[in-house]
Amino acid sequence: MPKGTYTFPEGFLWGTATAAHQVEGRNQNNTWYAWEQEEGRIIDGHKSGLACDWWGGRWREDFDRAQGGNQNAHRLSVAWSRIQPAPDVWDENALDRYREILVGLQSRKMKPMVTLHHFSEPLWVAEFGGWENEGIVDLFSTFVRKTVEALKPYCDLWVTINEPNVFAFSAFIEGVFPPGKKDIKTALRVMQHMVQAHARAYTIIHDLQPDARVGIAHHYRGFKPASWLPTDRWTANIYHTLFNDLIPRTLNDGVFNTIIKKEHFADAVGTQDFFGLNYYTTEQVRFDLLARKDLYSKRTYPEGTALSETGFIANMPGGMMDSVRWASSYGLPIIITENGVEDSQDSLRSRYLIEHLHTLWGAMNTDAVVEGYFHWSLVDNFEWERGWTQRFGLWGLDRETQARIRRPSVNLYAEICRMNGISADLVEEYAPESMERLFP
Ligand code: BGC
Repeated sequence: MPKGTYTFPEGFLWGTATAAHQVEGRNQNNTWYAWEQEEGRIIDGHKSGLACDWWGGRWREDFDRAQGGNQNAHRLSVAWSRIQPAPDVWDENALDRYREILVGLQSRKMKPMVTLHHFSEPLWVAEFGGWENEGIVDLFSTFVRKTVEALKPYCDLWVTINEPNVFAFSAFIEGVFPPGKKDIKTALRVMQHMVQAHARAYTIIHDLQPDARVGIAHHYRGFKPASWLPTDRWTANIYHTLFNDLIPRTLNDGVFNTIIKKEHFADAVGTQDFFGLNYYTTEQVRFDLLARKDLYSKRTYPEGTALSETGFIANMPGGMMDSVRWASSYGLPIIITENGVEDSQDSLRSRYLIEHLHTLWGAMNTDAVVEGYFHWSLVDNFEWERGWTQRFGLWGLDRETQARIRRPSVNLYAEICRMNGISADLVEEYAPESMERLFP
C-alpha cells in the first residue's frame, strides 16, 4: 500500500471555532437566555448556565490547549448584548474583556477571526422587533462601528454574520430558535435584512480598517434527490436554491431571487473578501405532498452512512467536495469556518475529521483556493435548542466541575496542525477504516 502525506499549503490556518453564547456562560441579557427560560424550548430544559466559563476566564486554559495542539488561529464571536446592553449604553468593561481575550490569542501566536453576530441579540433589540424590523440594519451598523473601532488593533479578519440561512430557517420557519416563528415570508425578509446589515457592516469595517478581510460564514448543506423522479429533483433544487444559494448569490450579483420573486440589493454586490464556509453534512430529499411545513419535503440520511451520536449528522465527506466547488464558483478564496461532529465517545470524530480534510485537500488540488480550516469545536459547548445533549468538542467538558476531558481526536488534530497535513501513519493510527479510501 503506498504511503505518503497529504500536505496543505504553507501558512494554512488551522484552528477551532466557538461562539459567545455557547462558551462564555452567564450571558443573561440576550434572546437565547430568555428562550432557555421558556418551558419546552430546549431539550430536557437544559440551560447554557456557566457554559465553558470563558467569561470567568477559562478561555485562558482553553487557548493554552489550542496552542498546545499546534493551532495557529481561532474563530470566536463577541456578544452584542454584553457590548451594548441597552440602546444608549456601551459597556467598556466588556470591550476590555474582549481585548484581553484577543491579546490572549495573539500572545499564543493564534490569529483571531471575530464573528460579530452568531445567533443571538440583546433583549432590547428583540423588543424592537429583532431581524424582522428593517431598522436593525442601523442598529447593527452602530454596534459594528463601535466594536470594530475598539477591537481593530487585535483583529483584521471578520465574519459579520454567522449562517444567516440557518438563523432564518431555524428561527422563522422551524421555530426552534427565538423568536420561534413559522412563516417563510418572514424568514425571507429576515434574510434580506441580514444581507443589508452585512453589506453595511462590510463598508464600515473597511472604512475603519482598510486592509481588513470581511465575509459571512455560510452554511452549506448537501441536498441530493432521493431518486430520479423529477419531483424529488425539483424539491432538492428548491432547498439548494433557497437555503444554500440565495444569500451568497445576492452578495455576488445583487439579486435576491426566491424563484417566485426577485428583489435588488445593489449595495450588497462584492461585499465579501473571502467565502466563509461551514459544512457538516448532506441529506437525501424526497418530495412529500403532506409535509407542508417542511416545504413539501422529507429529508433523511442515506441508508448505511455512519451517523453521529444523536443521529444529527451523517458522515458525508463527499459533500465537502460539493460545497467547496460550489463556494469556489463565487470566485473568492475560501475559509472553512466550521466543520465537525457531535460525538461524546469520540468514536466517529477522528474518521470524520480525516475524511473531510482529505476531501478538502482533494478540492484544493483541483482549483479551489482554501486558506484555512476551523474545526467545530475546541471544547463541548451549549448546542442551542439541543442543549448539552450534543458534544462537538475536541475536548470534552464535565459541566459539574468544569474539567476538560482529553479526547483522542485532540492528539490527531494536534498532529495534523503540526505537520500541516495528513500522513498515512496518522490515518493508520486514528482511522484505520479510512486507509483504503485515502491510500488505495
Ligand atoms: C452553528 C454552531 C453550532 C454548530 C453545530 C452551526 O450551524 O454555527 O453554532 O454549534 O452548527 O450544531
